[in-house]
Amino acid sequence: MEQNNKMEQYELAYHIRPPHGLLNDPNGLVHYKGVYHVFYQWNQTDTTHQSKSWGHMTTKDFIRWETYQPALKPIDWYDKDGCYSGSAVVFEEKLYLFYTGNVRGEDGERKSYQCLAISEDGIHFEKKGPVLEHPIKGYTAHVRDPKVWQGIDGNWWMILGAQKEETLTGDALMYQSTNLIDWTLTGSLLDEPLSLGYMWECPDILKFTDKDVFSFSPQGLKAAGEKYNNIYQSGYFTGKLHDGKFVKDDQPFKELDHGFEFYAPQTFNDHAGRTILYGWVGVMEPEVEAAVPTRKNGWLHALSIPREVKYENGKLIQYPIAETTHLREPNPVVSKSIQDESIMLTSLQQDILIEWSSAATDFVIHLRNEIEIHYRAVNKKITVIRTNWLTNNKEERTTFLTNDLIELRLLIESSMVEMFLNKGEEVFTLRYFTNETSHSFNFKYLNKKVEKTITGYTLR
Ligand code: FRU
Repeated sequence: MEQNNKMEQYELAYHIRPPHGLLNDPNGLVHYKGVYHVFYQWNQTDTTHQSKSWGHMTTKDFIRWETYQPALKPIDWYDKDGCYSGSAVVFEEKLYLFYTGNVRGEDGERKSYQCLAISEDGIHFEKKGPVLEHPIKGYTAHVRDPKVWQGIDGNWWMILGAQKEETLTGDALMYQSTNLIDWTLTGSLLDEPLSLGYMWECPDILKFTDKDVFSFSPQGLKAAGEKYNNIYQSGYFTGKLHDGKFVKDDQPFKELDHGFEFYAPQTFNDHAGRTILYGWVGVMEPEVEAAVPTRKNGWLHALSIPREVKYENGKLIQYPIAETTHLREPNPVVSKSIQDESIMLTSLQQDILIEWSSAATDFVIHLRNEIEIHYRAVNKKITVIRTNWLTNNKEERTTFLTNDLIELRLLIESSMVEMFLNKGEEVFTLRYFTNETSHSFNFKYLNKKVEKTITGYTLR
């Protein structure tokens, strides 16, 4: 994205942020008529979770972006309290958007309608109203976030996040259609019931050569050691999808990101056959959100960098899409040595790559005297520490790598960091807000020093 001449203290230069108001989930990701479309949940008028429209941006190269009027606005009886999350597909050269119309009755009672809007040019959208509007037997009104795709037999599938009435536990429902208008419920995605939180938001199905992946954002998981330390999580099961039923393999639920802010991701397949993921760099936690300093400038939250997702060795790996390297200015600073390093970053938009020719040994990185990254080789433990801007306390997130650490990539902005380990084996995403004016980046070995190469690119 083009950078403003006068940068705000916490400005984001190359991540999608709302021009004003609050952004949450990525929606409707699609490649249509040669252009990538990114929509997002957008409260245009305030930095609270009210009155969601679909913000709309397009790009051909993920570097230069066009901004359009909101594609969907909450102004009809079936979506008056929010055009909630959903997805996009292309059918007969038209762009179909599916989303949840959120409606509150006078008594506060929730109604959810799964709605359709169609466009022939990718800019103007005609709402067609609900395609699914009846309460579902055995489920509460928490049913939302339609993700639609075409099966190999040409039929269409829709997956919806839901909540079971009897147990008040999360579930995912599957629907089938031949024309994208008439939908038939085929049942729950999973035959074996799973007790994993009270609501599953933003379900998604990713398809790879030998594996299918069911990704979703469960609410209500209790923290368990290093796991599930944010208020809500996003993660996945691996297995096989057949005829609307997902059969898990023996792998546990895995979190997609180990940072402090990451939620409600969505993927799509582009014309080049890539699976690309965007996540919301935020989590719905009103007090923490209210304290984010950018609210003073009238905006809140952002999307992650687009990540290419692959299935490798039993898990998903996520790495910034190749186009991200086009954000790099020429002439990076390169330092190959076994020494500790103390670097002054020339700007706060950086892509820093640390490569080891053999396994990394214990180290700590200090970024701007604010973020700490610790690595312990004995158990391949990686920990990120930052200051919570609401409480002013230090807080940390940890995970363990499967492989020895040989590559660490940091996409840095003045108030955000995305960290990719071993080309995306694990990922940490976080915001940070510091008054520190220092642009320091310090790398320090804690015992044995081994050779490493640090390459620092300034990003535009
Ligand atoms: C996830 C979510 C979705 C919903 C949307 C509303 O963050 O709660 O389930 O559709 O946000 O903005």
